[in-house]
Amino acid sequence: MVWLASVGVSRDSELPLTSQIQLAVKREISEGVLRPGTRLPSSRALADDLRVSRSVVVEAYGQLIAEGYLEAVQGSGTRVAGHLAPAPRVPTLLDEGRVPAVRWDLRTGGAVSAHFPHREWAGAYQRALRGVGRAELDYPPLSGVRPLREELARYLGRVRGVRTTPEEIMVVQGFAHGLALLCSALPRLGIATVAVEDPGLVRQHRFVREAGLPTVPVPVDGEGIDVRALARSGARAVLLTPFHQFPTGVTLSERRRAELVDWARRTDGYLIEDDYDGDFWLARRPHPLALQRMAPDRVVYAGTASKALAPVLRLGWLAAPQPLLAALERVRGERDLGAEGLTQLACAELLRSGALDRHLRRLRARYRGRREALGQAVQRYLPGTAVIGADAGLHAYLRLPPHTDESLLVAGALRHSVLVRGGREFVTLDRRPPPALVVGYAGLPTTALVDALRELGRVWAGQPHGRRVAARSA
Ligand SMILES: Cc1ncc(COP(=O)(O)O)c(C=O)c1O
Repeated sequence: MVWLASVGVSRDSELPLTSQIQLAVKREISEGVLRPGTRLPSSRALADDLRVSRSVVVEAYGQLIAEGYLEAVQGSGTRVAGHLAPAPRVPTLLDEGRVPAVRWDLRTGGAVSAHFPHREWAGAYQRALRGVGRAELDYPPLSGVRPLREELARYLGRVRGVRTTPEEIMVVQGFAHGLALLCSALPRLGIATVAVEDPGLVRQHRFVREAGLPTVPVPVDGEGIDVRALARSGARAVLLTPFHQFPTGVTLSERRRAELVDWARRTDGYLIEDDYDGDFWLARRPHPLALQRMAPDRVVYAGTASKALAPVLRLGWLAAPQPLLAALERVRGERDLGAEGLTQLACAELLRSGALDRHLRRLRARYRGRREALGQAVQRYLPGTAVIGADAGLHAYLRLPPHTDESLLVAGALRHSVLVRGGREFVTLDRRPPPALVVGYAGLPTTALVDALRELGRVWAGQPHGRRVAARSA
């Protein structure tokens, strides 16, 4: 067995064997091939490998340790010294551009993982692993492992009213991956443009364009997407967030739902329903079911584990009508060999045992508490601001008093260690939307959330308009 492939010795060389090993290790370290923290083989293993006596390797290692290239770590052998190169920080999706260190991060996105159910996940993973035989260790089915598709069909029907079967579900690596697959499948059905909500998740729209499909922004109002404008766009597919529009938080009205289905039937088109936070209905009234149930032949339902569990899992699912499903399967077969299967089996186990239901119930109670605290803090610190879209999800849209300078407020907040996005960041159409803030409340405990709002209130009260309103309401 080769323990350290890039280190070799030659008996024809004039250099002693010890020096050859030292030089080779130094070269590999300086070229970054042997990375800081890499564990080196034991002196016995390397000596066997190089067919030299063990004392040669012991001497080489000793010298490299003395010179600071290697470190002897108690209980874990010899490693490349950690100080030699700073480990680069791995950027995440949230880090678009430079993200300053702040005390209060109110961005929407990954922070849900603060509540990941570690114990339940470990139990589910272990139970799943126990049932794994040779067949499960082979390449997973392209559409996802059967137990997960069965559990998802049951869960989505029960909780979101989705009309689907295991055969119509495709497991994907998060919605971002599902969207990329859809963008490759749609042209095979003659669909070459995708309409998107405006305001909306601009990053997602970029994914669509990068996949080669132009996007057409369609305005959103208090009922959801403007279906007349959609009809004028000429597109035959539209990407939507009907449950809780991102970022405005509007729930698509019954009237618009009917109009959309009608539009899709007339144009032989498809509605792509991004149900990213569909597990989080927080209001007391009955919660709106998936749009997909109104027209399973016209709607692709998309769900994700990113909000309910954690984005790191890169796990999502599509429930798609024929013939889109067939096109998706063809695309998948041409470009990958399926998604990682053990995570899928663990997720199936989490669904089967009811642990996911219990976890979500706990999360909803927690977010309800935060949402109420947010409402009270807004009333107190940002008078005249309307909280929109707080019936569901993990964020709220704060419509600020009309003359507030949104960008001044966002910049001022940052100076007070509050990182928050303004509503304009989500708009592409050439119009000036009313000033707003998009506040994610999943990542901060209630007290910190209230503190962050108090800081925002201070910055806002320091603005010319804020001073006037604050004086009136004092
Ligand atoms: C609007 C919207 N859709 C979908 C997602 C989830 O994407 P993914 O499943 O790729 O993590 C997010 C995550 O933040 C989102 O904000």
